[in-house]
Amino acid sequence: MSYLKNLNKLKFTGMVKRREEEIKKASDIMIPDNIAYKANRIAAALHPAYQDLIIEKMVMEDELTCSYYLIADKQAGCQKIAYFQAGQYLNVELNIEGHHFNRPYSISSSPRQAKEEGYYRLSISLMKGFIAPDYIWENWKVGTRVRVSAPLGTSTYNRLRDGKKILALIGGNGVTPFVSLAHTIADGDIDAEMLMLYGNKDLKSALFREELQQLVDQCDKLKIVDVLEEEVREGCEHGLIDADLIRKYRCDDDTSLFVCGPQAMYDYLNEQLVKMDIPRKYWRLEIYGQYNEPSRLADYPQEKKDEVYRLKVTQGEITYEMACPAGTSLMNAIEQSGIRIPVHCRCGYCGFCHSRLVSGEVFMPEFLDHRRQADKIYGYIHPCICFPLSDVEIEIPLYKN
Ligand code: FES
Repeated sequence: MSYLKNLNKLKFTGMVKRREEEIKKASDIMIPDNIAYKANRIAAALHPAYQDLIIEKMVMEDELTCSYYLIADKQAGCQKIAYFQAGQYLNVELNIEGHHFNRPYSISSSPRQAKEEGYYRLSISLMKGFIAPDYIWENWKVGTRVRVSAPLGTSTYNRLRDGKKILALIGGNGVTPFVSLAHTIADGDIDAEMLMLYGNKDLKSALFREELQQLVDQCDKLKIVDVLEEEVREGCEHGLIDADLIRKYRCDDDTSLFVCGPQAMYDYLNEQLVKMDIPRKYWRLEIYGQYNEPSRLADYPQEKKDEVYRLKVTQGEITYEMACPAGTSLMNAIEQSGIRIPVHCRCGYCGFCHSRLVSGEVFMPEFLDHRRQADKIYGYIHPCICFPLSDVEIEIPLYKN
């Protein structure tokens, strides 16, 4: 702030004129395409369009979760994996029976491991009936080549925005970004304290519990409290992570809430956090994956939930038509029809799937609607969080890779 106060305000007033003079002085010769400036090289290294990786190692974390260690696939032209911040995810490309899918998975290893040891760890739980994890479990082996996005997502700690303390509200497998964050705090790469409220059915089903305990034992900035739904145990909380528990453990106003867990937990916390009057800037909700059950929300028109609608999709010069059940997102219907669409987060945050609603009515969960005001006015939507309430027609962006 003191730096800003010392700025010469008069100097700013001449900025436009000075810029125009500099532009006039510049050469007319076009910059050749093959020159890579340092800033461009750094940007490309930090935000590559995609990364070709190879599975170096697999570790079973429990009988339903496997960690995949992914390193740069040099043969495919990827020299180094991109740096990331704890809490970010990779969007994994999958080609299942000729259909292209993308699924975001949080990175459970630390930024330091990426930088010094050259790997990302993705920990993926088998979920019967879900296409992507089923496919990964059956097909990914040591040596499998995988294409992923650059690290993405904003559920990261930033002292300019976040409190000095973090209260992590963790539901089951939502623990993966917190393992990364705990490592980062223990490594001294983030200066914050973190108390993890870790919700599970019972202690034995808590994923990465030993790894977290080791970090807690070596770093006094980390604490963990188990919240067990079906087990009563000394030193643990019993029940669900609810408003009372948040009040009990959020002792300092300068505390950010970082949340990752199942969608029912988000539905509940979204209601509770509003009532608790905790400023919005102090919530960091990491919702990864597609929102799947709109009919669970109070404002969903229940009489529509079993309908099947027509979805008309125009991409460039081509128009497609397909069926879209009311409980299926437009994005899922599009992908299941074999159409490729730009996608990263699948939950309304990144804006990559930004599309124009030409006609029809859609439902979108309010807490996932992160569109700009202009998008709302001019009829743009994010198909990843939209569910049809009538026949719908949309224009989607072209897919480039
Ligand atoms: S994929 Fe991110 S907003 Fe739709």
